[in-house]
Amino acid sequence: MRGGRYILRVNALLGSSGKLAWRQLLTALYSSAAAEAKNSTSQSPTLEILGQSYPTDTHTNTTPTILSKLSRNLHLQPSHPLNTLKRRIESHFSTFTHLDNLNPVVTTTQNFDDLLFEPSHPGRSKTDTYYINSSHVLRTHTSAHQSDVLRNGKSNGYLLTADVYRRDEIDVSHYPVFHQMEGIRIFPRSNLSAEISSDLSTLTSSAPSPTSITDIPTSDTNPIQSVHTKSEADLVTKHLKTSLESMVKSLFRDETLQIRWIEAYFPFTSPSWEMEILYQDKWLEILGCGVVQQQILDSTGHADKVGWAFGLGLERIAMVLFDIPDIRLFWSEDKRFLSQFREGEVTTFKPFSKYPACYKDISFWCPAEKEGEKWHDNDFAEIVRDVAGDLAENVRLIDQFTHPKKGTVSRCFRINYRSMERTVTNEEIDRIQDEVRRISAEKLGVTLR
Ligand code: PHE
Repeated sequence: MRGGRYILRVNALLGSSGKLAWRQLLTALYSSAAAEAKNSTSQSPTLEILGQSYPTDTHTNTTPTILSKLSRNLHLQPSHPLNTLKRRIESHFSTFTHLDNLNPVVTTTQNFDDLLFEPSHPGRSKTDTYYINSSHVLRTHTSAHQSDVLRNGKSNGYLLTADVYRRDEIDVSHYPVFHQMEGIRIFPRSNLSAEISSDLSTLTSSAPSPTSITDIPTSDTNPIQSVHTKSEADLVTKHLKTSLESMVKSLFRDETLQIRWIEAYFPFTSPSWEMEILYQDKWLEILGCGVVQQQILDSTGHADKVGWAFGLGLERIAMVLFDIPDIRLFWSEDKRFLSQFREGEVTTFKPFSKYPACYKDISFWCPAEKEGEKWHDNDFAEIVRDVAGDLAENVRLIDQFTHPKKGTVSRCFRINYRSMERTVTNEEIDRIQDEVRRISAEKLGVTLR
């Protein structure tokens, strides 16, 4: 599941006197990277991230744009919608230990291995994940901290909030940085039934408003772990689902809210589910959860416990609650956005006019696929993000075909440019588009058409 820090303010630089400086910087960065790539040596030998130095290697794929987000910490900014939402969720899990300040640079062990990701899991690929180097990544989810928290903490419940990073497509609900909250709750196996039923009685009595909930039973494709009895798994599941339903009800306070549970798969939980809410006639996934794999509890010193975990996307929920139409707005430093919100209050966002969009198409022949060098649309999206910053609203593949004789593949993307804060000029976008074309040819080896 999915679901947002500038040392370098991309928009401001593009829109004002910094325009050239920013583009020159990028050009310089890319041409030196490309020149170095050709010489088959790596880029800059080290990266400085939050005061720590990391050696780069052939896995490194973080860009200056993405690294500039690490210091923003939107979830910690008082009166920011993400902070208000975080605090509401924290107040719902008031007995849990709350954490919100963990380093976004984690090892591949923390992000994947500790969570039992198979070596071939697609989440590990360089097209999906930002690698600092072959052993360190920008966390792709808050679950990366599960094992450490369980190993080092003394609490039976944790709620942790953090910015997470994923290479992804570009549209109004996807941004390469977003925020998640992870909840973990563990129970002593020996006293499970008593602890859960006492907790549930307080939860159900304080839950507001009737809401329609559709549930599904566990099934063969979503199995109970063989080390758990059916009754253990059922009790933990009941506690998990009731806690989350009650949290969502209290956030929305809407009698007509419709919730449904669907089956899911995560390497670190079984059974697993996703919760969806009906929003504007569509089911919107807001969180993933499940019964923690016993192996994780065993290896973190909790062999005598069972537990649940969930991870939710804050932007997704905030977009619904505050009526925020575009995920880029969370990053806006425009007063017309920020001044609309008060600390701790959920209010409806009033759009300050929608500025006109400007779209440009780009077509190219993709390079022939070699072993280990598969084309991926995310690599192209990353170039658009890096050149255009938050001016890129949407990137969509509009046409693709294979040459009947040569077998080469042509792709055409439509890039929608729009500023949240001002009207962009056609000349400005033309220059950006030229840069996207040039860098795509240089970095991805495409042949422009
Ligand atoms: N980490 C998962 C994700 O980002 C969500 C999740 C958390 C699922 C905890 C189960 C338990 O997709």
